[in-house]
Amino acid sequence: MDGDPAPRGPRSERAATGSARRPRSDPHRPRCHLTPPHGWLNDPNGLIELDGRVHLFYQHNPHAAAWGPPFWGHVVSADLVHWQDRPIALAPEASPPDDGGCWSGCAVDDDGTVTVIYTGVQGGEQTTCLAFGDADLDRWRKHAANPVQRAPADVGITQGSFRDPFVWRDGDDWAMVIGVSIADRGDALLYRSRDLRDWRLVGPLLDLADRDRWPDESHTWECVNLFPLGDRWVLLASLATDRALAWPVAFVGDFDGTRFRSSSRQRVDWGFHGFYAPLTMRDAGGRRLMWGWLQEQRHGDDQRAAGWSGAMSFPRELTLEEGRLRQRFAPELRALRETPVRIGELTWTGRQRLDGIDGHQLEVALELVRGTARRSGLIVRHAPEGATRIEVDWQAGQLELDCPGLSVDGALRWSRHAMPIERDRLDLHLIVDRSIVELLIDGRSLTARPYPARMGAGGIEFFADGGDASARAIEGWRLRACW
Ligand code: FRU
Repeated sequence: MDGDPAPRGPRSERAATGSARRPRSDPHRPRCHLTPPHGWLNDPNGLIELDGRVHLFYQHNPHAAAWGPPFWGHVVSADLVHWQDRPIALAPEASPPDDGGCWSGCAVDDDGTVTVIYTGVQGGEQTTCLAFGDADLDRWRKHAANPVQRAPADVGITQGSFRDPFVWRDGDDWAMVIGVSIADRGDALLYRSRDLRDWRLVGPLLDLADRDRWPDESHTWECVNLFPLGDRWVLLASLATDRALAWPVAFVGDFDGTRFRSSSRQRVDWGFHGFYAPLTMRDAGGRRLMWGWLQEQRHGDDQRAAGWSGAMSFPRELTLEEGRLRQRFAPELRALRETPVRIGELTWTGRQRLDGIDGHQLEVALELVRGTARRSGLIVRHAPEGATRIEVDWQAGQLELDCPGLSVDGALRWSRHAMPIERDRLDLHLIVDRSIVELLIDGRSLTARPYPARMGAGGIEFFADGGDASARAIEGWRLRACW
């Protein structure tokens, strides 16, 4: 037997459960997206589907709306839309060694025992630890022989970065990719194990020439995922740079059990500091689903004052089309829709309201078509005069998302986002949930966080500058609150 039969951790943390209704005093708090009951949330962790329910864990600080040595929060859902709070799963402890926190990791079903493999930090050292769940995953027991893995001495690891193990079954073995820094640059290592405890280093996941082909600003690759998709393999890495936790990238390539060979790379999200640290899982139906952490943009003091920080993205389904990663919102989210509006085709000049949809939780899907206007797009009417602008410059081949001057404290840090576009017609799928904007453009993602200073009736407006523009197959809904 390893470990104690009973889970450890402060009893008060474990007792704090029930499906807490999120306070509504903060108009910026999302009503449809998952946020922590209180305190801080960052990365999704330990995704696993059991008996038709998806368990999602997350990096959590229950003590303050600021990052602190992470706990693992836990929620469960039968429909991917409504989440029930469960007791905190993991808490930092001096022994076994993770007093610097239970950092990110994954979950696997090890022959009937759900096991999480996470980064335990102690004295600044990042190591790999295990914990075992009971039948309903409410009680956790840490492995007595933690840590099971330390950073290898001979591959030139820098920054002390050795974290966020991602594990899957590969034949009789378990395989793991883990994010590191080598020569102050983000990278990933590949390991194998028979029993999740004894890990053998296979080597860097990409050979050096392949890694060199894709320069990036990262010092560490965080939260790497490697999985098959269609007839290829996809590697996700979130880029931690000296400036910020920037954005995730996806490599498409092939994996032979020993090395990943890349053929392309793309951004997973075009927001800066918007959607980060995604984690994926294969569900019972064979879909590859992805969740990401939606980072806050308002000042840390405002986050503390609000008492909550961080939201989880809506689940997105991944596919490959002509070698490119495509995202779509999981169809389960349709359960949130109410008051549908459908318009077959609309052409406008200047500004035109989309009648029938208002509020600050809404969804719009349409095909935006280039007309004579050089610039056209949508405005999310947080306030009567408008606010977040989704603007396509057709001539420049660029889509911009702009939330200018919206911060309550004037400290909105990254308000303008841009991405290249190649076509004269764009499939847009927009979700607005108070301070969240999730936008898919031809299956590519741009996520941003506006914090309007004033809240009016909400809704959507179309605009076209100096000409006309049109949209086809417009569908819009208000979204029901989940919390
Ligand atoms: C990504 C990350 C992970 C780490 C965790 C700590 O946002 O930095 O690399 O495990 O957050 O909370």
